Amino acid sequence: MAVERTLSIIKPDATRRNLTGQVNAKLEAAGLRIVAQRRIQLSQGQAEAFYAVHKERPFYGDLVAFMTSGPVVVQALEGENAVARNREVMGATNPADAAEGTIRKEFAESIEANSVHGSDSAENAAIEIAFFFSGCDIVG
Ligand code: CMP
Repeated sequence: MAVERTLSIIKPDATRRNLTGQVNAKLEAAGLRIVAQRRIQLSQGQAEAFYAVHKERPFYGDLVAFMTSGPVVVQALEGENAVARNREVMGATNPADAAEGTIRKEFAESIEANSVHGSDSAENAAIEIAFFFSGCDIVG
């Protein structure tokens, strides 16, 4: 198994409820190391650019509005198979379908306010990490 990095975002529904530490505890318990982390307020332009891949989807406008509705915590995570491992600990996009013990099962409010984002492939992880962090921000 390869050591990988992936991009994680703790979304506004979770920061609003002061769940950053509880989400981080689950990530760390899953064997993921937080090698970079920053709490930021996304601008409209940043959210639109980050989610550009979903531009044609009917939920795009609402997604951008939600992601700019409060602070987010952007993180680079490192570990064996980090992309898949993070997706496992996050759980399904829709919390109604998420497995017991996952972040979304425990904390998500809805398919939109689903507490966390995680890269869906190693290729996208590299792009998404570079969107928020430069090399010297990441300390493994
Ligand atoms: P995320 O992993 O951040 O990637 C895109 C986001 O769109 C997704 O999580 C969901 O929170 C959000 N979203 C809102 N509505 C839907 C939907 N109907 N189907 C999929 N994703 C949705």
